[in-house]
Amino acid sequence: MNPGALNLSTLLDDFHRRFEAAVAHATDERALEDVRVAFLGRSGEVTTLRRGIGQLPASERPNAGKVINEAVERMERELGVAQARLENRAFDDELAQTIDVTFPSIPPATGSIHPIRTVLRDAATYFQRRGFAVVVGPEIEPEYYNFDALNIPPTHPAREGFDSFFITDSMLLRPHTSPMQIRTMQEHQPPIAIVAPGRCYRRDAVDARHLFQFNQIEGLLVAQGIHFGHLKGMLTGMCRELFGEDQRVRFRPSFFPFTEPSAEFDTTCPKCKGLADACSMCGGSGWIELGGSGMVHPNVLREVGYDPDLYTGWAFGFGIERIGLARYEIDDIRRFVESDPDFLAQLA
Ligand code: DAH
Repeated sequence: MNPGALNLSTLLDDFHRRFEAAVAHATDERALEDVRVAFLGRSGEVTTLRRGIGQLPASERPNAGKVINEAVERMERELGVAQARLENRAFDDELAQTIDVTFPSIPPATGSIHPIRTVLRDAATYFQRRGFAVVVGPEIEPEYYNFDALNIPPTHPAREGFDSFFITDSMLLRPHTSPMQIRTMQEHQPPIAIVAPGRCYRRDAVDARHLFQFNQIEGLLVAQGIHFGHLKGMLTGMCRELFGEDQRVRFRPSFFPFTEPSAEFDTTCPKCKGLADACSMCGGSGWIELGGSGMVHPNVLREVGYDPDLYTGWAFGFGIERIGLARYEIDDIRRFVESDPDFLAQLA
């Protein structure tokens, strides 16, 4: 045996040890691939080793190819194991970075019911529970429903009170929900008990108390023997539902072409209950104005074909935003249309 020549198993042991150290150092799959190429690739070390078979001691040569192949197979298996380990680790790292299943989740941003819708719903629900139907109608109306049928002929000065957006000579964005009185009575015979909520439009300059688009709710009760006392009872009940138990309602004589007699109605100031001289909501009067009302004018009943000697009725209409201002103690009506999610969520 040639003492100066390295024997194959020593060479392979050394090769294998360096290979294992390199594999252990490879921290990602690309580094591992570099190790494979350097040691086992076509022009890697193993090729040099195979070429060196001729210089081995004669006794080792016959078997050398087989021994080397076995060593390479083992190393390839080790590479596979290392590869799987790195893949798992990469996945674990990714999981650790992005998902902590114990971490409290971020609540998704959700909307809330708009306060105006809440007031509208509460008012409508009060009447629904008392047998009133909720009806909705068009926001674009002919003058007939808006004015003529409501006892406001073309030259009547009351038309000026409704500063309306006209779309054509005779079609307009409704400035109030009262047209729904006419539409309902034309379609149904008494007894009639409805509330009609919905959007209305007026050419008002926008300020802390006015919007050019707002909501109203209209009420109408027509049957035999209906009188003003029924109206006061209903409105008092509604104010108690909306503002709290000891609300009171008062009427002030007024004029509307579609009612006779007519009255505006107020309710106890929900903020100071009439007790504060310098209340920012009622100015110390103790009352806040809500809307208009009255006994349905005989001309209106006649217009829809009802006999005013047989039937009487009352009607009312008021602005929902005004109720919202009072109920939520807000000093600027524009807050309702600014779409500020924090403001809206606070009132929800
Ligand atoms: N439509 C009136 C307005 O917008 C409010 C109103 C007053 C409605 C008296 C009524 C009523 O039904 O009877 O100013």
